[in-house]
Amino acid sequence: MKLFIDTAIIEEIQTAATWGIIDGVTTNPSLIAKAGKDLVSVIKEITALIDGPISAEVKEGPAEAMVEEAFGYARLHPNIVIKVPMTLEGIKATARLTKYDIKTNVTLCFSVPQAIAAAKAGATYVSPFMGRLDDFTNDPEAGYKLLEDIRVAFDNYGIETQIIAASIRHPKHVEQAALAGADVATIPFKVFLQMLEHPLTTKGLEIFRNAGK
Ligand code: G3P
Repeated sequence: MKLFIDTAIIEEIQTAATWGIIDGVTTNPSLIAKAGKDLVSVIKEITALIDGPISAEVKEGPAEAMVEEAFGYARLHPNIVIKVPMTLEGIKATARLTKYDIKTNVTLCFSVPQAIAAAKAGATYVSPFMGRLDDFTNDPEAGYKLLEDIRVAFDNYGIETQIIAASIRHPKHVEQAALAGADVATIPFKVFLQMLEHPLTTKGLEIFRNAGK
């Protein structure tokens, strides 16, 4: 499973880049707003730090407007992936961008039919949102089940669209993403750090540290 970092905060990406395990970056309008910079400057900075797919999200609107906006971002760097919202206009925009060989990531996916529509439009990636679906359904396995079902549906037809497990809130989501066969997990900075923790690792370290004292 590839590991992307889900952030637009440059300092986080700079730090994560030194770990040697980051395959790509996803951003979204909320993350860009949190970073307090404009999308183009953030994207340019990220391309200098990470050599892998970098998702830049277009504003929801008519397909033509999204395609035009996408051209502007795609021109910035060959690693740019255009994140497109899951709407009918978004599907139309994705199909257009596919014809231009521009990579896409259809976002805000919460069902198998939505994922099938994205794949049919030629999306490079589709992003099912685990955390938000778990919250909405009050079921900690709802996102997991969705990933599993999309995996089965895609495998039934040899669909090459890659599944990005998004809206990851904790290490359990990373585990669920891997068990469900997601191609990518896009993980917030703090969850990356939490992934390395286990009470027995902490305890073991303490025992080793104290050995021989
Ligand atoms: O990048 C999209 C996604 O990961 C958003 O996560 O926590 O806002 O649901 P969240």
